[in-house]
Amino acid sequence: MSQTREYEFTTKQFKAFQTLIMEHTSIVISDEKEELIYGRLTRRLRKLGMTSFDDYYNLIANGDSEELEQFINVVTTNLTSFYRESHHFDHLKNELIPKLLEQNAGTKKLRIWSAGCSTGEEPYSIAMTLMESISDIHTWDVKILATDIDSDVLAKASAGIYRDDRIEGLSDETIKQWFKRGKGKQEGFVRVAPELQSLISFKQLNLLKEWPVKGPFDVLFCRNVVIYFDKPTQKILFEKFAGVLSAHGQMCIGHSETLFKISEDFELLGQTIYKKCA
Ligand SMILES: C[S@@+](CC[C@H](N)C(=O)[O-])C[C@H]1O[C@@H](n2cnc3c(N)ncnc32)[C@H](O)[C@@H]1O
Repeated sequence: MSQTREYEFTTKQFKAFQTLIMEHTSIVISDEKEELIYGRLTRRLRKLGMTSFDDYYNLIANGDSEELEQFINVVTTNLTSFYRESHHFDHLKNELIPKLLEQNAGTKKLRIWSAGCSTGEEPYSIAMTLMESISDIHTWDVKILATDIDSDVLAKASAGIYRDDRIEGLSDETIKQWFKRGKGKQEGFVRVAPELQSLISFKQLNLLKEWPVKGPFDVLFCRNVVIYFDKPTQKILFEKFAGVLSAHGQMCIGHSETLFKISEDFELLGQTIYKKCA
C-alpha cells in the first residue's frame, strides 16, 4: 500500500471493487488501475465523511441506490470531444445521409442512436452534420437518441453548455452557426444552438440491462464504450445492436475497437464503420 494514501486500500479491497464495478457496469478494471480507482472512490468517501473502504463497499453492496448512481458516475471514463474521429462525420455527410435520404424518402424518418454519448459532444456533432447536410430537414422526422449510464454526464449533455476551450479547433463558421458565447457571468462558456438540442433526446441507459428503445435505427454510434467491456459482453452487445438496426443500418465504433471475432452480423465498410449484414 502506498504510504501517501489518505485511506487504507488493500489489494483485497480493490479486487472486491473490481467485481462490484463489473456487476453494475460490465466495465473491466484491470489490476493496473488500482491507483485510479483509489483516487476516484476517495472522492466519494470524502464527500460522505467516511473513513473506510469497507464501509463504502458495504453501502454499495447493500444496494444504496443513490450512492450506487454516484459510484457508477465516478468509475466511468467520459473522454470525448466535438467531431472526435472526424472520418465518421465525413462518412455520415458524404455517403450515408445521401443514401438515407433516398432510402427513407417514403417515410421521411431518420433514427440515430449515440450509445455512450458522455457529455454530448458526439450527438451534437451528429446533429450539426444532419442540419448542414439536409436542406429540407424541417420536413423530415429526425430523432437522435443519446444515452449513457452516467447521470452526471447526461446532465451536462442536455444542458449543452461547455467551456469555450472545448470548441477550439472547430471552424469559425461552425462556431458562429451553432454556438453562442456567454457574456458576463457566462464568460468563458458556450451554449449549443437550441435547434440542435431539439433533435436529441438524452436518456440514462445501461447498455448491459434492458433497452427501453424503439428503433429500428438507421445509424448507431457506439464509440469508445465497448473497449471497457470483456469479449463475451461485447458479443452480447453487438448481437443486440444488430437487432435494433434497420435492414440497411450502419454502425460506427471507436478507433481501437473491432468486430473481428466478436460479431458476424456486420460487414466492414470503412475505417471502424460497419453495415448490418443482409
Ligand atoms: C470514453 S466515453 C465515449 C464517449 C463518446 N462515445 C466518444 O467516443 O467520444 C465512454 C462512455 O461510455 C459510458 N458507459 C460505460 N459503461 C456503460 C454502460 N454499461 N452503459 C452505458 N454507457 C456506458 C461512460 O459513462 C462514458 O460516458
